[in-house]
Amino acid sequence: MNNTMPEARSLVEGILKGLEQSSTNTNREFLDIILAPPFPFLSLCKELIKGHSGIHIAAQNCYTEEKGAYTGEVSAAMIYSAGAKYVIIGHSERRNYFRENNAMLLKKVEIALKNNLRPIFCIGELLNERKSESHFKVVRQQLAETIFQLKESDFCKIVIAYEPVWAIGTGLNATPEQAQEIHSFIRQLIGVKYGRKTTQNATLLYGGSCNAQNADQLFAMPDVDGGLIGGASLKAAEFVSIIDSLSKKIIDELH
Ligand code: PGA
Repeated sequence: MNNTMPEARSLVEGILKGLEQSSTNTNREFLDIILAPPFPFLSLCKELIKGHSGIHIAAQNCYTEEKGAYTGEVSAAMIYSAGAKYVIIGHSERRNYFRENNAMLLKKVEIALKNNLRPIFCIGELLNERKSESHFKVVRQQLAETIFQLKESDFCKIVIAYEPVWAIGTGLNATPEQAQEIHSFIRQLIGVKYGRKTTQNATLLYGGSCNAQNADQLFAMPDVDGGLIGGASLKAAEFVSIIDSLSKKIIDELH
């Protein structure tokens, strides 16, 4: 919940300008950049990215129901019609401040898929769960009760974002090794549930205090396919620098 309309406009314009001047520009076909503005700015952002390939729009949430008398809520169909391709579901702030539980999140995922949106589904443990070393159990359960209920063809449309709650907005990022450890665990779980091909193709993002300083090291991890960037995405130059880090990883992998 940051930025007014004029601020959002100048942020997106700054990002687009930064991308034009960056090395990422020449490698755009290998990576997807997704901008996830608040609801009132979805159409504006869609308009601004016109003609820029490889850049997409996501909403930050959607409601569990198709349509009707749910004043104040926003449906997946509305989001899709505003030009978004993705929707973030299950962000820890939604889980914690708005009491969204796994059953509700599964409904949101299903309604998003039904309306042609690809969910960016967030999972991750709280600080006390990390301290008591139950993070593997927590993540396994979050997956089992939500997106692992989907049939394989639907699961393939999901982007997973692992975000340790203690790292979101705190300046405390997971170390690259911690991120790799749990990403590789998640990939194993996907493999057991859906098989090798699906797990190889799955996209696993890391989120939580990812910034221009630590992006290189985080993205260097083999099972970290990208990032879900919060605070650092509010500064155009820093966000572009993070995208450049991912672009470098992709080029290295292609060689
Ligand atoms: P952060 O936020 O990058 O500011 O930690 C991540 C998020 O909101 O998911």
